[in-house]
Amino acid sequence: MPGTERNDGRELTYRVVAMPADTNAFGDIFGGWLMSQVDIAGSILALREAEGRVATVAVKEFRFLAPVAVGDLISCYAEVQRRGQSSITVHVIAEACRQLEAHRVCMVADATLVYVALNEDGRPRHLPASS
Ligand SMILES: CC(C)(COP(=O)(O)OP(=O)(O)OC[C@H]1O[C@@H](n2cnc3c(N)ncnc32)[C@H](O)[C@@H]1OP(=O)(O)O)[C@@H](O)C(=O)NCCC(=O)NCCS
Repeated sequence: MPGTERNDGRELTYRVVAMPADTNAFGDIFGGWLMSQVDIAGSILALREAEGRVATVAVKEFRFLAPVAVGDLISCYAEVQRRGQSSITVHVIAEACRQLEAHRVCMVADATLVYVALNEDGRPRHLPASS
């Protein structure tokens, strides 16, 4: 199984195994499922950065680089790319580890998502000062 750190500053924020229920009618893993996992992975970093509620406002880019198979362990590594007044842009890469064999790892997706910090009314709020 791959480790939890990469040497490029990205942080492992989320791991999940692709299951048969995540397949489309042809038995392949559905692209929308992977998008959802990447969104969750990015939001975990955004939530921490915003110190509270966030919503995804945009997916600026999403590239599917290789297919995902049932049983693959998906590891998502995220990094804050930009902090605005209320928005946080997060770059996420997703890797698949085939049958939990550490040497069989390949990058399956690369995405940039924008999250907005929200107040109790669901409106944008200023981000807290970065530590
Ligand atoms: C998020 C939301 C509250 C923002 O409201 P809004 O009136 O568009 O807010 P603003 O125009 O003030 O933009 C807020 C921030 O988002 C950024 N933003 C808005 N749309 C964007 C886009 N398409 N791409 C990149 N950034 C965007 C703005 O640049 C701004 O950033 P900043 O404060 O750092 O400068 C509103 O769009 C919303 O509720 N969207 C639905 C979110 C959601 O439900 N997501 C899950 C889908 S299931």
